[in-house]
Amino acid sequence: MALETTFVMIKPDAVQRGLVGAIVQRFEQKGLKIKAMRLEMPNPATIEKHYEVHKARPFYPGLVKYMTSGPVVPMMVEGESAIAVSRALMGATNPVAGKPGEIRFDFGQHIGRNIIHGSDSAETAAFELGLWFPKGGAQYKRAGDEFLFE
Ligand code: RTP
Ligand code: MG
Repeated sequence: MALETTFVMIKPDAVQRGLVGAIVQRFEQKGLKIKAMRLEMPNPATIEKHYEVHKARPFYPGLVKYMTSGPVVPMMVEGESAIAVSRALMGATNPVAGKPGEIRFDFGQHIGRNIIHGSDSAETAAFELGLWFPKGGAQYKRAGDEFLFE
């Protein structure tokens, strides 16, 4: 089993549109374990660091403005192949390029308002988890895990 921990963030558009519960439910239904989660007005410096890889891209200023426009919900998520599984739950970067069942397809319409973020590799997950959750997450045994994992 490849148990992984990844970083997921519900973006400001989804918070403003009242979609937090519906989105968190997708992760819970899949059986992914939430190890940390909070709602906060993001620090602009944290958003800039988070999306630093895109600094030279034309969409970067708009992306930072969007991501700092309201509260976000950063989450630490654990599960079997959690990095790829979380990205699959989210779907294509452009919400209309994906398929029904994907969070971005089901809830969004525009690449610049695409609902949710997820780490794209183990290296990115380690960087983003360190940035958003420097104290780590909750260590707990979840009831029912024996019915989820052999
Ligand atoms: P994310 O990092 O947010 O999970 O998204 P991603 O991996 O699917 O896509 P990425 O290429 O990393 O792009 C980061 C975010 O930048 C915004 N974007 N806007 N207007 C545009 O052309 C454009 N392209 C990207 C999106 O919010 C995208 O999620
Ligand atoms: Mg990305």
